[in-house]
Amino acid sequence: MKYASQRIAYWYFSAAMLLFVLQVVFGGLAGAVYVWPNFLAETVPFNIIRMIHTNALIVWLLLGFFGAGYYLIPEETEREIESPLLAYVQLVLLLVGAVAAVVGYLFGVHEGREFLEQPLWVKIAIVIVALIFLYNVTMTVLKGRKTAISSVLLLGMWGLAIFWLFAFYNPANLSLDKLYWWYIVHLWVEGVWELVMASILAFLLIKMTGVDREVIEKWLYAIVGLALFSGLLGTGHHYFWIGAPGYWQWVGSIFSVFEIAPFFAMLIFAFTMVWRGRRDHPNQAAMLWSLGTTVYAFFGAGIWGFLHTLSFVNYYSHGTQVTAAHGHLAFFGAYVMLNLSIITYAMPYLRGVKPYNQALNMWSFWIMTSAMAFMTVTLTFGGVVQVHLQRVLGMYYMEVQDQIALFYWMRLGAGLFVILSVFLFLYSIFGPARVSEPGRSLRVAPTPAP
Ligand code: HEM
Ligand code: HEM
Ligand SMILES: [Fe+2]
Repeated sequence: MKYASQRIAYWYFSAAMLLFVLQVVFGGLAGAVYVWPNFLAETVPFNIIRMIHTNALIVWLLLGFFGAGYYLIPEETEREIESPLLAYVQLVLLLVGAVAAVVGYLFGVHEGREFLEQPLWVKIAIVIVALIFLYNVTMTVLKGRKTAISSVLLLGMWGLAIFWLFAFYNPANLSLDKLYWWYIVHLWVEGVWELVMASILAFLLIKMTGVDREVIEKWLYAIVGLALFSGLLGTGHHYFWIGAPGYWQWVGSIFSVFEIAPFFAMLIFAFTMVWRGRRDHPNQAAMLWSLGTTVYAFFGAGIWGFLHTLSFVNYYSHGTQVTAAHGHLAFFGAYVMLNLSIITYAMPYLRGVKPYNQALNMWSFWIMTSAMAFMTVTLTFGGVVQVHLQRVLGMYYMEVQDQIALFYWMRLGAGLFVILSVFLFLYSIFGPARVSEPGRSLRVAPTPAP
């Protein structure tokens, strides 16, 4: 850790990991309801469990992005964060909002509208949180060294905050409601979050491979261009069946196919840099996560997105388990794994110890990625059978659910392995360190006092 204010990231990452546990545990509960329909029905109904699962996901990913920002901005700008105090205020505000939202959900207080269920005041708190972050980081960047990585990260975070404002606009007309709902849900993950992803990946690759900044920056600009070119009009792939004009069938289909390009570019980018650069970085686990992120993002977002993005395919697959398969692999591959990469990379520095528990961390990588892949394949098969029985043969929804119960059992099984691997991951980053850096906080092998 070169700058004292990077320490802020430790608290953001820790809070993120807490919500990560909540997220996967509630995922497990939701998966259990799918196989025992009355499970917890009296205490916490399925819609509330699902809400906590998806909201905890989004909030911990945001905490991870903020943490990554506070970690890498000092190194990029070569100066301390403008106001560490504000950064901690921001963290407390976001956590209070998140906890209050969850408690509210448990008592049935929410605004509906998937992903945007937070009560109004929590939505406002999120705006304030974003403004504090933007102020803090923008000031640091303006006063310090300017790099492509910090500019792209800032552009992504500004975009994130601006599109969030559409959460406050909820027209009574259901078609209009959906039209703007996707400005957040789609333009985040298939637009501005991709910029955040590209910049964090670029940072990790520079640090771990030592490849020249100029080379990395050219890639970065290309990825940003591809993401914005395809992602903005690609929103049309959600406008096929909501009452929007017919031209979206073409615009949405064509531009969303190009959305594969930025993910493919990130994949080639990461592997080329690792191939060209040094491969002796001591934190091999962080390298594994970084490369794995680009592979899983390419499959989850790119391939699984393409599977159902053409309007004549989506006509059949819309809103089935095919969508859930894609939603899981894309969110996991792109943004969960990205966060676990930067956390694996940064934690040893933040804790003042050498890269440690590498083997355990890599075990968690292989178990988590295999289990998520299995879950996705299961849901995909379930989804294809569902499409056939329900949309082609015209069977009733609930009849079809009985037919695909086996897939839901397998999803639950895979989910339990995901939960297990999350705990392994946490132990590997927070647990006792094997080797310590001299002169820093020593944990397992203290040097004897002179
Ligand atoms: C990391 C990036 C991505 C993430 C996190 C993501 C996530 C999701 C999620 C969660 C949904 C379900 C939303 C809902 O209805 O509640 C969804 C839907 C969809 N996604 Fe993605 N996605 C990503 C990238 C892509 C890409 C690149 C494509 C196209 C190539 C794509 C195509 C679609 C389509 C067509 C739907 C609508 C499915 C339906 O009609 O039911 N996605 N995505
Ligand atoms: C880090 C890993 C995970 C991520 C990124 C993730 C993400 C998501 C997302 C984005 C949705 C909404 C899907 C949509 O609208 O199509 C969702 C729903 C769901 N997730 Fe997860 N999830 C994860 C782990 C799990 C685990 C471990 C389980 C356990 C079985 C699980 C079970 C479920 C269930 C049952 C739903 C509701 C699906 C439905 O309504 O049909 N998830 N998850
Ligand atoms: Fe989309």
